[in-house]
Amino acid sequence: MITIKSQREVELMRESGAIVAAALDMIGEEICEGMTTLELDTMAEACIRDHDAVPSFLHYRPKGDLSVKPYPATLCVSINEEVVHGVPDKKRIIKEGDIVSVDCGAYKGGYHGDSARTYIIGDVPQEVRKLVTVTRECLERGIAQAVEGNRLHDISAAVEEHARSNGFSVIENMVGHGIGSELHEEPAVPNYGRKNTGVKLREGMALAIEPMIAMGRSRNAVSKNGEWVAVTEDGKPSAHFEHTIIVRKGSAEIMTLS
Ligand code: MF3
Ligand code: CO
Repeated sequence: MITIKSQREVELMRESGAIVAAALDMIGEEICEGMTTLELDTMAEACIRDHDAVPSFLHYRPKGDLSVKPYPATLCVSINEEVVHGVPDKKRIIKEGDIVSVDCGAYKGGYHGDSARTYIIGDVPQEVRKLVTVTRECLERGIAQAVEGNRLHDISAAVEEHARSNGFSVIENMVGHGIGSELHEEPAVPNYGRKNTGVKLREGMALAIEPMIAMGRSRNAVSKNGEWVAVTEDGKPSAHFEHTIIVRKGSAEIMTLS
């Protein structure tokens, strides 16, 4: 079931969204070569708790799947060929030339906010810089379709079209999602699809739109031996941006802006 958020619920989501944005702003100011991914995680957790919120991902476990270990951290920090769910680690050092995707969620007042940004560390090749820019634009184009009266896959099609026309591939087995009192609600929001298909979007639907776009040809992010981190099949870099939005008439309202 896809829920429509009330005015009161949207106000609460604005608050959790603003906390996620504050944490990612701080990460953006602090992140640099030589830091460990665990240091980023510690900073983000402190920021979230200072706002009387709780990290959404910490101890998260997909519903009904007891085989998956609970997620052990506040952030997902995924570097280069890592697409998503990189687990912060005190031995993982950020290097010059890396692209670092940081995904963060916060829970407060009964509602979640969820957002991701990809940071560029120092000098990276032109094509990698373009990947990051295009992925950010894919998110913007997806959000532009998240208006009442459109259909769900208008978002997906806009993301896919922009990625492919720039020569990049869409990671198909990882998707965006509805969001609210649960981190993952219906519907799934794929990053590929056909215009004019999928459910009709209605004012008050809350969606986490999150393009994961790769150089090369990888169509899936794969993980090995039950590890959380998922990487591209061909080892090429991938980027990730995400916002939590509310569907509106005319233009979506973004909950996780700076
Ligand atoms: N933004 C990601 C998602 O929506 C992050 C989830 S990490 C997890 O799936 F630990 F919560 F799984
Ligand atoms: Co998400």
